[in-house]
Parts: sequence; structure tokens; C-alpha cells
Amino acid sequence: MEKHVNFGSRMGAIFAAAGSAVGLGNIWRFPMLVGDNGGAAFILIYIMCILLVGIPIMVGEFVIGRHTQSNMIDAFRQLAPGKWWRIIGVMGIGVAFIILSYYLVVSGWTLYYAYSSFSGALSNPDCDYGAFFGDYVANPWLSLISAVVFMLMTHLIIIRGVQEGIEKCSKILMPMLLLIIGILVVCTFSMPGINEGLTFLLKPDFSKLNFSVILAAMGQAFYSLSVAMGCLCTYASYFNKNTRLVSSALSVSSIDTLVAILSGFIIFPAVFSVPHVEANAGPGLVFQTLPYVFNMAFGNIPILGYIFSGLFYVLLFLAALTSAISLHEAVTAYVLQNWKMSRKKASTIVSACAMTLGIFCCLSFGVLSHWTIFGLTIFDLFDTVSSNIILPLGGVLLALFVGWYLNRELVRQEITNNGEVSQRIFPIIIFLLRWVAPIAILSMFIKGLIEMFNK
Ligand code: PHE
Repeated sequence: MEKHVNFGSRMGAIFAAAGSAVGLGNIWRFPMLVGDNGGAAFILIYIMCILLVGIPIMVGEFVIGRHTQSNMIDAFRQLAPGKWWRIIGVMGIGVAFIILSYYLVVSGWTLYYAYSSFSGALSNPDCDYGAFFGDYVANPWLSLISAVVFMLMTHLIIIRGVQEGIEKCSKILMPMLLLIIGILVVCTFSMPGINEGLTFLLKPDFSKLNFSVILAAMGQAFYSLSVAMGCLCTYASYFNKNTRLVSSALSVSSIDTLVAILSGFIIFPAVFSVPHVEANAGPGLVFQTLPYVFNMAFGNIPILGYIFSGLFYVLLFLAALTSAISLHEAVTAYVLQNWKMSRKKASTIVSACAMTLGIFCCLSFGVLSHWTIFGLTIFDLFDTVSSNIILPLGGVLLALFVGWYLNRELVRQEITNNGEVSQRIFPIIIFLLRWVAPIAILSMFIKGLIEMFNK
């Protein structure tokens, strides 16, 4: 078994946690929700959710991880021995495993789309993008190969360990990701739809706001920050004693929110540059609408469309990779600490099991599309059960655990680094964890359940 290792630097710790948070959810799901729910008004609500619910839970998870220096299951065993609270740890790691198995399918798509952009297949003016996507996901071999290649990349990083693998990669991949976003945002200024796109993003339309929009914003904040699924708890177990938990949570959430909003700045000017494309094109937006949009948005300078499209899918791929690393590590850390085996062996077991489930998810777009439970394919079932049920439930329990059960002095010591950091924020975090977060997430959970059964 490997001995406990910490991240080597504060920067490394923040980039690793931000890498977990910044994922497909930021670049694909966030703009889609903004498009559906009235632009800037949704963004404002989203930011409130991050501040009032997301950050306090993230701090709670950091407290648990750093204090116990363990994966999420063992952390709860230590903090509440013999109590049913440990179900939170089991749910966290379980959900990380399930998300990993379907996340790698979509991540494989990003890899294939990056390849197809650079090979020129996506810039062919006669391409029917809907059919291109449909044929690709229904082709068992192509989509499986993409997922396996993606899994192998993740695996190779995980086996190198915390400092040499996760930290080093995050320090390279995150700046690369930010740089690509910067380049893409600058490029959008040469698109004809820039004014319309910016107006859509910056002018709030409060008439679109209602309770269900607020709950959608909260669900997104939750998913986007990667809280309650063992990833951040595991990463926090690698934080050292000087890492400031609240300021790290603020930095991670700021990077995450910035990337989400900038993705909107990339996507909407492009969408508004092309006639007959709607801003609320739904889930097909990234893989069916955008390739077409990128191809058309630069009008008579097709080479720009080619580069823009390639960089965009590389961006998606990088975001997916850093998130998958954190999901994988959450499970691997448990396996290696609990069963006392080498990192190589533990991560091979995790990769093999996740890939096996991943195969079913992949095939559920083609040959297994008739396998349904509650009318959902395997892929949709994994996504719905994890994001609509296990995640919010885990979030509520986590907030209650840190807010009510955990020894207050322990939480204070962790949040203030044994008195070195100001205490002022402490009562606010406790208040949010005790009252605001549980009530808010519970409403979201109930709505998710109702929606699921109404389908
Ligand atoms: N936060 C990631 C995203 O926005 C998703 C994710 C969930 C990553 C859980 C890791 C763990 O895409």
C-alpha cells in the first residue's frame, strides 16, 4: 500500500480541485441551461446558488477530507464510527464510480470530435451533422474505441500517483484549458453575431424566472462544483495543513464559474451568427448544432471555423479528462486504502470495472437502445439516478453532518487552520450548512423525483 502523500503546492491543490469541477457540465450543460432559461437572469441565480449552497458544502467536504486524510468512506468511518452517517461515504464513492462509467462515454465523443475537426470531416460543407452524430454513437466500435482510449489516458495518469500524476497533469492541463478559452473568446469578436450573443448573455430577462428555473440553477451549481461525490473529499485528503480551506473553495468555485460563463461567451455569439439556429437547441447543442455553427459562423474565412472547431473540442476533452481523473481517484483511493494494495493494482481494477459498465452505456445508444428501465436507457438511467437522486441526497446529508453532527471545535480548527485564519466566516458557513443548504437541496431533490416519475 502506498504511504500518504500530499499535493506539493497550493497551486497544484487548487488546479487539481478546479480540474475536477470544470468539466463537460461547464461547457456543455451550463450554456444549454442559460439558453433555455433566459440568459443573464439565470446566471445571477446560478451565482447565488454557488455562494449560498455550493461553497459551504465544498468547505464541509474539504474539512472532512483534510481532517481524516482518507477517502470518503473511511473518512466517515473515522468521524462517526458505527453510525449510519457512513452511508454518505458509500453514496459518494458509489456515485463517483457510476458517473465515471458514463462520463467516459461522452468524454470519448469529445476525443472523436476533436479528431474529426482536425481531420476536416466536420468542416465539409455538405456534412449532415445530425446524421454524423447519430451514426457515430450508434456505431458500437467507433464509440467504444473512443471511450477505451479516453479511459486508458485517465488510467495512465492515475497510476503515476498524486504528485507525479494528478498534480503535475492538473498544472499543465488547467492553464492549457484557460488559454484555449481565452483564444476562443477573442475569436468570437470577429463573428457577426457578437452583439446579439452578448446582449443575450448580459441582459437579464427576469420574466423567465420561476421556481423550477431556480432549482435547475441549483442542480447545475451542485453538479458543476463536483460536490458530494467523494472527489473533493479525496483531493482534500491530499491538502497539507497550511492550505486555507475557505479561500481554496472560493478559488475553485471562481475558476469553475468563470469557465462556465466564458463558455457562454464562446457559444452564443457563434449561435447568433448563423441564421435558423436557436439559442435553446437543447442537449444536441454541442455535438450536432455547434459543428455546423462553427463551420458557418466565420462566413468567408473557413480556416477560422476549422481552427475554432478543433480548439473547442480539445477544450471539451481537457475539461472531461481532469474531471474523470478526480472521479477515478476517488474510487481508486478507496480501493487502495481499504484493501491495502498497490496503486497500480487498485487503479487497474477500477479502470476495468468502470470500462465494463461504460461498455453498456456506450451500447445503449445503439444495439442496446431497447434495454430500458422506467423508460430510460442504461446511459440515461445512470445519469438520472446519480444526478437527480444520489447526488442531492448525499449533499443534504453532508450539509447536515458537518452543520449539526460534527464536533464544532473540529470544524472551527479546520476552517481557521488552528486559529491562524480569521474566524469571521465560520458562523456564516455553519449557518448555511445547517439551514440554507439542506432546505434548498431538498426542494431540488423532491422536484427531481417528481420529474422522474412523471416521465
Ligand atoms: N463537475 C463536473 C462537470 O461540471 C462533473 C463531475 C461530476 C466531475 C462529478 C467530477 C465529479 O462536468
